[in-house]
Amino acid sequence: MGFSLSTESVVSIDSFSREDLQNLIDLAKEFKEKDRKGERYSVDLRDKVLVHAFFEPSTRTRLSFERAMKELGGDVFGFDDPGKTSLKKGESLLMTIKMLEAYHANALVMRHPKAGSVQRVADICNIPVINAGDGPNEHPTQAFLDLFTLNEIHPGIDGIHIGFVGDLKYGRTVRSNIVALPKFDDVVIHWAAHDAFAMPDDLVKLAEDRGIKIFRCDSVDDVLKESEVCYTTRPQKERVVGRYDIAEIAKMVENYKITIDLIRRANPDVRIMHPLPIDTNTEEIEDAVTFSDNQYYLAQAENGIFVRKALLFALLGGIEHRVFEPYVNSALSESNGNLELYRRSGRRKKDGRIIADIEDGFVIDHITLGEGSDLAKELEIDKYRLHILAGLDSTSYDRKEVIKLSNVLGEKDIRRVVLISPEATFSIVSGGKVVYKFRALLCENEACITQDVLEGVPRNFFYDGHEIRCRYCKSPIEPKVKHEGELKRYVKSLPAFE
Ligand code: NCD
Repeated sequence: MGFSLSTESVVSIDSFSREDLQNLIDLAKEFKEKDRKGERYSVDLRDKVLVHAFFEPSTRTRLSFERAMKELGGDVFGFDDPGKTSLKKGESLLMTIKMLEAYHANALVMRHPKAGSVQRVADICNIPVINAGDGPNEHPTQAFLDLFTLNEIHPGIDGIHIGFVGDLKYGRTVRSNIVALPKFDDVVIHWAAHDAFAMPDDLVKLAEDRGIKIFRCDSVDDVLKESEVCYTTRPQKERVVGRYDIAEIAKMVENYKITIDLIRRANPDVRIMHPLPIDTNTEEIEDAVTFSDNQYYLAQAENGIFVRKALLFALLGGIEHRVFEPYVNSALSESNGNLELYRRSGRRKKDGRIIADIEDGFVIDHITLGEGSDLAKELEIDKYRLHILAGLDSTSYDRKEVIKLSNVLGEKDIRRVVLISPEATFSIVSGGKVVYKFRALLCENEACITQDVLEGVPRNFFYDGHEIRCRYCKSPIEPKVKHEGELKRYVKSLPAFE
């Protein structure tokens, strides 16, 4: 027993090679076999401590990690109700997590509503960080246990025909599974969902680009006919708050339920998997299925213990006594999200068309028309000597608003501006000349941790060879620039994701 993973933290399933996944599955199998022989407990992780930080509800993930750690002789502490921590007093995610690390944790398992939050924490921690679900983004350890379960149903996984039904848009377990499955050969996927919960195009494209045959079906019936195993998920209603109410959601998913009649008609041998919980409001799987031989989700849930034992053993098995390192790497507080723009040389003429009465200060230009006063409110006029100038754009002759400040805007306020007015440009003016002009790029994914102004996660991007992506939630962005050269220069300055 024993192997090392090619990654220290578990943020995305994509960092795992097929070999890693195979090793994990094999080790989890050993743990399951031992369990069945009565060898449940060991002292493999004696003196090791796992801390959990759950900012969202959890039954299976948190408790199976706890069981796994304890069965391996380790210890567990942490919180699952952020309302009872000093986050309530305004403490940041960064400081909260550094505290858990300071209290002698050897690894952290974290669930959080914001996409990219776990990448952020992995960046600032000196211990392995395990993603137990970051908003609608990923849930890699659920995907490990799903793969382990698929491997029980279809040994080797290669050539499996799998169906996906339910909420394929916001379900993070689905995303992690779709990223993981192309690591196996000849996988065929059939899926069905209401348009509001359809598999996002980028995910379908990713699967196709990586060699999966993937088909959308009109009905659950068709999915069941084509699949040995059907993976069902509940509508993630917490991700669509304010967009749909429960009654609307229930109506939308009505035609995508798994019922025992449907199974009997379409495919009596199909195995039904579900990451759980099943929602009693929407009943994406009817109760009768739970009492049938098609039900595989309870075995799937227990497999979580074996897979998490394997993962914890792989991450912590070889680690000796770890002493808290009380520094935070300052490089990780730096942002690379300012896209420098070309600027005109020399002083502009005061010809009535342009706004030229700016001598020294910080200028926000290209504000979405009409947003100037909202911005001014957001930035608290008293804090900066703020001045809204109205005039005509020098090139388009359109009316425009420009905000002039006597001092440079802080990072949090830059972010506030961009959230209201994404195309705004920022200029530092000295002696009437623009000395630095930039567009502040911010990830456009509303669920991304970088959109949380107070958390202050740096605006960081990488280039994957095709697209500029947010370092944290990995969403692509397409900055608009006037001159192609500006974008080229910016892309050249970006790192590849390591
Ligand atoms: C899932 C989750 O939290 O993403 N649950 C789990 O971890 N087993 C699925 C869900 O909540 O629908």
